Parts: sequence; C-alpha cells; structure tokens
Amino acid sequence: MTTWFNPRSLVPRTDLDDIYRYESISGQGGLFPQTVLEHWASVAPTLPIPPDLHEMLLGVGRPTPLTRARRLEQRLGTGWQIYLKREDTLPNGSFKITSALPQAYFGAAEGRERVVVETGAGQTGAAAAMASRMVGLSCEIYMVRASYERKLLRRRLMEFYGATVHASPSPGTVVGRRYLEQGQVDGSIAIATSEVMELLDGDPTGMNIAGSLLDFTLAYTSLLGLELRTQLHTAGLSPDLLIGCVGGGSSFGGFALPFLDTDGVPPEIIATESTAIPTLSGGRYDFDHPDGEGEAPPLKMYSVGHRFVPSAMHATGLRYHAASPLVSYFVHHKAIQAVALDERDAVRAARLLAETEGIVIAPESSYSVAGLVEALAARERPGVAVVLVSGSGHLDLDAYASVDAP
Ligand SMILES: Cc1ncc(COP(=O)(O)O)c(C=O)c1O
Repeated sequence: MTTWFNPRSLVPRTDLDDIYRYESISGQGGLFPQTVLEHWASVAPTLPIPPDLHEMLLGVGRPTPLTRARRLEQRLGTGWQIYLKREDTLPNGSFKITSALPQAYFGAAEGRERVVVETGAGQTGAAAAMASRMVGLSCEIYMVRASYERKLLRRRLMEFYGATVHASPSPGTVVGRRYLEQGQVDGSIAIATSEVMELLDGDPTGMNIAGSLLDFTLAYTSLLGLELRTQLHTAGLSPDLLIGCVGGGSSFGGFALPFLDTDGVPPEIIATESTAIPTLSGGRYDFDHPDGEGEAPPLKMYSVGHRFVPSAMHATGLRYHAASPLVSYFVHHKAIQAVALDERDAVRAARLLAETEGIVIAPESSYSVAGLVEALAARERPGVAVVLVSGSGHLDLDAYASVDAP
C-alpha cells in the first residue's frame, strides 16, 4: 500500500462542515504536526504514504495476516466461512502502531521533541511509546488509573520502550488533582485526555499522538481495510459481514469504512460495544465534547455524555463516552449497525476462540467475536464473515480472570 484511504472522502462536504461546525482543525496546530493536520483537513480520497514510513510499517509487521477460523466454524456448527484479520500479531500487541507511527514520524520530521499521550488499557500508550522511540522522540504517558493498577505488564511494556508512565487522574495536573479530590480514582480516557491537553498547552516542542476518534487516525488505520480488500480479492472472496469493536472507533473505522467506497452493495457491517457504555446503540447523535472537562470543541457524534464515567470493566479500551464522528455518521445513516454485548458473553467468546484457534485476543476484540456468535446464530443463509481481532490479550489475562464467566 503506498497510499492511505481517506474516509472523509465518503462524506458530503456540507455534512463534514456540520460535523466540524465548532472545531477548527487548523487551530489544533499545537497538539498535532502540520502534516497530520493537513491529512485531517483533506477530503481527497487517498493520502500518500512517504516511502521510508511505508518501509517502517512493513518492518513492524504490516500487512497483518488474514486467517480462516475453521475450528471455530465447526464449533459454532455454522455454514459461514469465518476469517480473522490478525492485528494481534503486531509487536506492540495491537493495531494501534498503524496510526501512532505516522503521527510520530511526521512530528519528528517537523522538529517536535516530546510526545505526551493518554491511554486506557495501555494499547495506545504501548504503540505511542514504541513509535516515539523509533523516530527519536521522548514519551510521557497518562494511563487510566484502573488499568495502571491492573495492567502492570502493559505498563512495563511502555516503560521498556522507554516511556514514563503516570496514573491518571494524577496529582501532577490541575485537572487531575480536582478529580482526585472528588474521589474519581478509577479515571477514564476523557479525564486522561484533559490532563494531556493541560500539559501540552503552550509547549511548541510537545505533541500528542491521537489514539482514536479523530478522522486522521481512521485514515492511517485504513491500512487494515485496504489490506483486507486485497487479501480477500486474492483469495477470490467477497465479504458478506464485517464485524469489529468500537471504543473511539479507529480500528473499526479503518477496517470497515474502505468497504463503503464502492459503487456496488457494501457488506453488512456491525460495530460491537459494551452494554456498560453503549455509545453507538444507546447514546445520542448530537454535538458533544471529546474530553471529560468539556473544554475541547464539541463534535457531532454518538455520545453518552462527556461526564459519563463507566464502571471498571475488563475491556478498558472501550471505556470512552463517544465514538468517531465518521463512524457515528455512518451508524446514523444506517450503513453500519451497532450492537451492545454483555461482558460475560465477550469473555466466553474470547475463551471459545482460544480453545478453537489457539489465539488469545484482547478484551476489546472479544466483543467482536461475541458479536459474530450472536450474528451468525440469527442468520440462515451462509456467507463470508471477517472479524477484526484488534489486539492480543496476553497482557490482559488477569483482566479476563477477574470476570466471572462460567
Ligand atoms: C485492542 C484494542 N481494540 C480496540 C480498541 C478500541 O479503540 P478503537 O475504537 O479506537 O479501535 C482498543 C483501545 O484501546 C484496543 O486496545
């Protein structure tokens, strides 16, 4: 792949202007490198990947494999062919490096020196730590405290990549101290984002690596969908069903939105999420703030409210109050269905995949497998389904063990 697909090109200009009614993309110059902002503002259908960045992406393991899950098919007793898009094979443990590396690369090329980033389960942090060090930037990470305490090994991975990791809410920021005084100890991605924004305010050498939500993260992760299109084409297959999970929407958007770029009939597309925070299936499609403080300009997207703090859950990466404006747009226009699933069903599905295919998937990805099991049970005619395995769960086995799911 020498170009990314730009999912903004799928949305009519007037609708994009509406989504961004209160946001000035060029006004985000402090937070993100100029090239990233240009990609964000672009409505061109493709964006060029610099050749040396392309080589780095190949070096870290792109394209990821597409494998058939025959034993899972047999166990489910289904006539469907099930394929897995295997982002768990990447060295940082998830798809996240696919979007972190371009951001760090463009930042380093433009003279930025330090990355300050928020992370939930630690997957964004691990990718940011890896990407930053690969291009010579320092990296500081604010990790949602609930996972900081539970996901010690992922914290160690970020530290091993050379990053400094803080628990969020942290006593080091005004925002963090306020939440701590209010007894908000578990934290959330929205709170960690507010801390990072406070730290980067007015620092020209610093930058953020966006983990999700923003349109350019979906353009960078479009490699998932573009690779999949090629892999399916090479195998002589056309997909009937695509299924992935949504936290902020970057893996799902990059995986699924390239399939809406067609003159024909697109496949059925299902976005899965947790019943603990059913953003797309239970939230409102309206303007809301992407951060917990309500300071960042509101975007038009599905949200359960920026003040919503969900209970602690094993799939920390899904604990976000809103979903990507682009994914939200296509859910609103019914090109994508959203389904909320119970945590125990998700854990059972993850175990089923481990028992049949031997793959230990990330807690977030377990919602996609649970969604698949539910979707196939309701369908009579066989077809080809692709499940996005957004990450590996080896460092999440404690979280799995903490859920009682016989
Ligand atoms: C493995 C994995 N999958 C999915 C997600 C959800 O994020 P997004 O919706 O941006 O893909 C996360 C978030 O941390 C994750 O770590």
